[in-house]
Amino acid sequence: MNTQIIKIYDVLRDRKKIELAAAVIKDGGIVALPTETVYGIAANALDENAVMKIFKAKGRPADNPLIVHVASLEQAYGLVSDFPDDAKLLAQKFWPGPLTIILPKSEIIPKAVSAGLPTVAVRIPSHPITSAVIRESGLPLAAPSANISGRPSPTSAQHCIEDLNGKVDLIIDGGDCEVGLESTVISLATTPPRLLRPGIITLEQLRDTIGSVACDPAVTSETSPTWKVHSPGMKYRHYAPNAKITLVHGDFASFARFVEPKRGSVALVFDGEEKKLHITCITYGSEKNPAEQAKRLFASLRQLDEIGAQNVYARAPGKSGASLAVYNRLIRACAFQEIYLQR
Ligand code: TXA
Ligand code: MG
Repeated sequence: MNTQIIKIYDVLRDRKKIELAAAVIKDGGIVALPTETVYGIAANALDENAVMKIFKAKGRPADNPLIVHVASLEQAYGLVSDFPDDAKLLAQKFWPGPLTIILPKSEIIPKAVSAGLPTVAVRIPSHPITSAVIRESGLPLAAPSANISGRPSPTSAQHCIEDLNGKVDLIIDGGDCEVGLESTVISLATTPPRLLRPGIITLEQLRDTIGSVACDPAVTSETSPTWKVHSPGMKYRHYAPNAKITLVHGDFASFARFVEPKRGSVALVFDGEEKKLHITCITYGSEKNPAEQAKRLFASLRQLDEIGAQNVYARAPGKSGASLAVYNRLIRACAFQEIYLQR
């Protein structure tokens, strides 16, 4: 397939390019485009054939459902059989933005989108390009992250090109993603509501808005075959570069003592720490700034591949607030290999 690559600086000035993207979508094609979280591969969510092309391009298992992106509450109402008060409260506070809400689906959702589940994941993204393509096409867009399944999610057009050149009809370069990690996913199809994937909108913020919210065990641990898995995506190895990564808990001094003798290894560390270590380092943001870690993590994981890292030791982030999202991606990138150092 020939992939067209275009750059959009401004949705008003580049109107013709938005029209082009909308035409590709209406024609049943697939388009990689930027959202505020990560880049997505978008197709008409109501066209099962178009949606199947996404699964093929990503090499995504068919049992992993897709998020449907819309531009207005009215459009969201059409996708679900019920939009409860909690959904209204969350929508009012966090939409448009990086929150995905799982609700009972309406009849119009094709089986491929929901992977046969009775629910559908919905979000109103805030990125002007995605929003403009949804409005111009008049269609809801099914869009998973625009990576080959198992690879770190793309936060720049270059990442999409690496993974998807020749596999999608169009790639829209709209610059780097603001958030850098995928949306927070909450299910309102369970009682109490349940956090399935942490993101920059935190568990604490969700609880402040709607009260009790359970945290799915898959957020912080490996799923076991005997569990009822609420979010199919959580059971797959994810976000993983080729290197073997170990997540190391403890302070910097202990980390330095532990990692220094491991010649040939690479350290994934917080900004500034690279100056104090004598082994190769990749940084992923300052220790005190989880939003910055979120924004840079996936690019840093891809960098590990670029430098040919084999054995990586990563400084662990915290586990509360926005750090929970960073931790959730890192434990998957390291296939749950964690160690805790004594002081
Ligand atoms: O920020 C994002 O959410 C990005 C951008 C493109 O919007 N999209 C994204 O999609 O991360 P994806 O497909 O990579 O992740 C969607 C996650 C998966 O873990 C999937 O299993 C889960 O949401 N999911 C989707 N529909 C679901 C449903 N009906 N029930 C439970 N989990 C669902
Ligand atoms: Mg993904």
